[in-house]
Amino acid sequence: MKELSGQIAIVTGAASGIGLGISKGLAEEGATVYLLDRDKEKLECAAAYFQERKLLFETIPIDITDEIRVKSCIEKIVTVYGRIDVLINNAGRQYISLVQDFPTEEFESMLKLMLTSPFFIMKQVIPIMRSNKYGRIINMASVNGLIGFAGKAAYNSAKHGLIGLTKVAALETAAEGITVNAICPGYVDTALVRNQLEQLARQRNIEVQSVLESVIYPLVPQRRLLQVKEIVSYVKFIASPKASGVTGQAVVIDGGYTTQ
Ligand SMILES: NC(=O)c1ccc[n+]([C@@H]2O[C@H](COP(=O)([O-])OP(=O)(O)OC[C@H]3O[C@@H](n4cnc5c(N)ncnc54)[C@H](O)[C@@H]3O)[C@@H](O)[C@H]2O)c1
Repeated sequence: MKELSGQIAIVTGAASGIGLGISKGLAEEGATVYLLDRDKEKLECAAAYFQERKLLFETIPIDITDEIRVKSCIEKIVTVYGRIDVLINNAGRQYISLVQDFPTEEFESMLKLMLTSPFFIMKQVIPIMRSNKYGRIINMASVNGLIGFAGKAAYNSAKHGLIGLTKVAALETAAEGITVNAICPGYVDTALVRNQLEQLARQRNIEVQSVLESVIYPLVPQRRLLQVKEIVSYVKFIASPKASGVTGQAVVIDGGYTTQ
């Protein structure tokens, strides 16, 4: 019997990078995983992986900032299974600009994606977990939820807010078998980070490897990008019944970034 057999998990931003890795990890532990993402093509690629391995899953092409659609999606899952055991609020994106130049619409849109959406998804899911007296909620924050980084006004604001929201939800559910935690990765080798590296390389007219050597590695004592699997193994633990005493935490996985 696998650890998450019979459990239902929802992962947002599940078609790529960390969200895809987590979805695979939870499904390999026996969970039925709902992969929510707005990128239909990437969802189709993900589906092929799950089908080949006979994992239990469903892909849902959806913009997770659309509260009405998200609500109806969650209602459908609950109608079929009567439960949601694991929720991973993971979808995110990056936009870099000085505060003085940051488009207000972009700022609001990023807060909606990385703070308001996790809020209204938790609002839907917590009563379901409450009725089953069990739940694991994991919000994908970042080291940028703990420290500042010039140029990332919206991202830092959203991730700092998400850690605050995590603590509040953890306190409100602490006595009911539900845990709520944030994960704070440093630089992980995904499309989100590769896009930033390429942008910096173009701006400075240098190779991506030189950006890593001159900009990123000096910030990271381990002098490397983290791999998705390193985040997944942590998430699998926090998402499991074993981690029943861990709640309200912002768990840092950053190669030493925030230690300096
Ligand atoms: N990569 C890193 O170094 C790093 C570090 C710290 C935190 N994070 C966080 O981890 C999470 C995943 O990042 P990643 O690096 O895997 O990025 P990624 O770009 O590989 O994946 C993000 C996914 O979110 C989806 N998405 C974006 N907006 C959406 C929307 N409105 N509706 C539905 N889906 C949407 C994208 O289609 C994509 O599949 C993000 O919240 C990010 O902030 C990443």
